[in-house]
Formats: sequence, C-alpha cells, structure tokens
Amino acid sequence: GRVAVLISGRGSNMAALIYAARANDCPYEVALVSGDRPDAPGLALAKAEGVEVTPLDARALGKGYWDELQSALDSAKVDLVALAGFMRIIPDAFVDRWQGRMINIHPSLLPRHKGLGSHAAVLAAGEDSTGATVHLVTSDLDSGETLGQVEVAVLDGDTPETLAERVLIAEHQLYPRVLAEYAARPFDAGWIEAQVDRLAR
Ligand code: GRF
Repeated sequence: GRVAVLISGRGSNMAALIYAARANDCPYEVALVSGDRPDAPGLALAKAEGVEVTPLDARALGKGYWDELQSALDSAKVDLVALAGFMRIIPDAFVDRWQGRMINIHPSLLPRHKGLGSHAAVLAAGEDSTGATVHLVTSDLDSGETLGQVEVAVLDGDTPETLAERVLIAEHQLYPRVLAEYAARPFDAGWIEAQVDRLAR
C-alpha cells in the first residue's frame, strides 16, 4: 500500500516509518510526506531520504488547505494516511473521506489521557505505567478503534520529559509494525468501495 505521512514537527515517528519501509518484506511504502507547516524539521529529513515531500502551509491556505492536501494525496495515489505528530484538528469531511484509511499514534494507553499533555497527566494520576496507542482516526479526537498498543513503565523521578523520551522509543517500534499489519490486512470492503467511488467520479 502507498502511505502518506503527515507531520507538524520533528518527524521522528515519520523517520521510523520511512526506515522500516526499506525492509524487503514491508507491505507499505512511504509515497508522500506532507504536513501543515512548511518549516517542520521532519520535511527536510524526508527530502534528504529521497521521499516525495509536499510542504503545505495551512495558515496561509486557510480553508483551502484541506482541498490542497486531498489533491496531493490523490496525485500520489495514496491508499493510507498515517498521522505522526500532526497537530491539527481535521474537519469531518476529510475524516469521512479517509474513513478506515487514516491512522494516528498517541502517546498514552488510550482510552486513558486523550489530547495534549498525556505524560503530565499520567504522572499527576500516580500511574505506574503508560505507553502508546495506534488507532484509526474518527471525528472524535483520539477515540477511533485501537489497532495496537505498547506499554512503558513509569520510573521514580520521571518528569513529563523523561517519560516522553522513553515512550517515544516504544512509539518508534510500535508504529511501523502496526502500519505494516494494517497495510497487509487481507480484505477491506470500505477500501474497495472507495476505489469504486473514485473510478465512478
Ligand atoms: C509523538 O509523541 C506522537 O505520539 C505525538 O506527537 C509526538 C510526535 O513526535 N502525537 P515526532 O514528530 O514523531 O518526533
């Protein structure tokens, strides 16, 4: 399957997805990297790694941003969208269009600690473990079906920063594995329907 990775910043999860795709038996390829801000450091990394990059500026494009993004995904014949530190609320129409074909990684054991600040919330709640979740994107933030999770222990003396750093290592293991499983799933009626729709247009 052809995957677009959408980022807003550093892009370390994006890098993990790109490097994992270099294995001969990887069932997905990164066809495109894009995002919502042209200065995202991850874009330069993707470019240096020879991946096609379409930098879009959501602030400058305003409402037209989502149409621009959709045409970039169409031109690159993308099958799946992987959000990786993409910090923008996605309009329902776009979510609907990619229903069942857009996934996200969140740094907590969902359904616990949705939204920003999950590591601080874990520490404030005195929990002794946390982790990361890859899930399908729905219009409800961080609430779509879970596709995979990894657990990470909380250590005495952890700060949100030290915890984030350790969870990130686990994210880099989890995301490529779950994306590969999802890209290789045997049958997906929704995807086939969408292709038929697309051809009919
Ligand atoms: C990751 O922790 C991810 O789970 C969260 O934002 C962070 C992005 O980091 N959504 P990076 O840009 O992938 O390095």
